[in-house]
Amino acid sequence: MLQNLTLTLLINLTFMFSTGKFVSSCLYKEVGDKAVIPFGEENLEKYYELRWSHNERRGYYKRGLHIKLNEFKVDQNGSLILENVQKDKSGEYKGIAYNENGSLINSIVHQLCVQEPVSEPMVIVMCVEKGVNLTCKPMNNESTVVSWMKNGMNANATDAILQVSSSELNSGDKFSCTVSNNVKQKSAKDVEPVCSDTDEDMMDVWWMLVILTAGGCFLLILFIICLVCVWRCRQNKRKAKKEEEYRLATLMPDHTNQPDEPYMQQTTSQKASKSQRPLPPLPTPQGPPYFGPLKERNL
Ligand SMILES: *[C@@H]1O[C@H](CO)[C@@H](O)[C@H](O)[C@H]1NC(C)=O
Ligand SMILES: *[C@@H]1O[C@H](CO)[C@@H](O)[C@H](O)[C@H]1NC(C)=O
Ligand SMILES: *[C@@H]1O[C@H](CO)[C@@H](O)[C@H](O)[C@H]1NC(C)=O
Ligand SMILES: *[C@@H]1O[C@H](CO)[C@@H](O)[C@H](O)[C@H]1NC(C)=O
Ligand SMILES: *[C@@H]1O[C@H](CO)[C@@H](O)[C@H](O)[C@H]1NC(C)=O
Repeated sequence: MLQNLTLTLLINLTFMFSTGKFVSSCLYKEVGDKAVIPFGEENLEKYYELRWSHNERRGYYKRGLHIKLNEFKVDQNGSLILENVQKDKSGEYKGIAYNENGSLINSIVHQLCVQEPVSEPMVIVMCVEKGVNLTCKPMNNESTVVSWMKNGMNANATDAILQVSSSELNSGDKFSCTVSNNVKQKSAKDVEPVCSDTDEDMMDVWWMLVILTAGGCFLLILFIICLVCVWRCRQNKRKAKKEEEYRLATLMPDHTNQPDEPYMQQTTSQKASKSQRPLPPLPTPQGPPYFGPLKERNL
């Protein structure tokens, strides 16, 4: 910083003394910085009359030994000192000096550009179709310059967005960006972008399909098993019912005189009739074992 300052000062002085009149490009400063607008090498006493103005408004005026206006601070060499500069201090500074005879002995016009301090940027990683987009943020809206580093090497890119294709991107690659505003520069922390490329995406989709299919099959099998169970249950019940009907039907001839209706009732409410009416002896030993208990009861 200080080196920079002295360098600018020296360059300006050299220039000034060779030309007599000097118009410089902008002297860049950040808000809060100290700015020195150099005037010359001569001691202040050598200038019989010295004036400094900012954007045509006079801020310093010395004539002879009297300092008549001292809104600005001027050092022993006649240079203008601006402490803690704010943005309103930007603009054109003019210094003019005459000797006792009213002859011009030095004049200078200098531009001061006070900028917002540059803030530390951040690299935003955005995975795109065929690689990754890296964005340097936040950017100062003033004249800031972006540069990119890849693995500590200049990536030769100056756009706010750096596009890296997946073929250029190796795992472990580190990226960082630097923004500078003519005064200072600040760098973002390294980022290691990780984007699953399309192949991996396809694998993911494939695995998802496999899992979904397997799950679907499992559910289908479960459903079929349930269906079979239900069907078999029903079958068993129907079979049992049929067998009972069959048994009752074989018994019917003993009560041939009875009309159909009571018979139907009997079959529908077997249990009640079973317990109330003594059943006749079962026809044969090959009767189903289901009727075993009934047999016992009836004996
Ligand atoms: C005045 O200028 C001389 C020569 O450039 C330099 O060495 C000296 O430090 C200056 N004085 C001040 C007060 O800046
Ligand atoms: C100012 O003018 C007087 C007479 O014209 C002359 O003697 C003197 O040297 C001049 N001073 C300077 C600094 O040139
Ligand atoms: C990625 O960056 C390129 C180049 O700057 C741009 O054209 C493209 O739109 C960006 N993609 C996305 C998704 O932002
Ligand atoms: C920069 O942005 C700030 C707010 O973010 C705004 O106030 C200012 O006017 C902008 N400066 C320029 C030069 O665009
Ligand atoms: C950037 O450019 C320089 C010179 O042109 C070259 O040596 C360097 O390899 C480049 N860096 C990258 C990352 O391409």
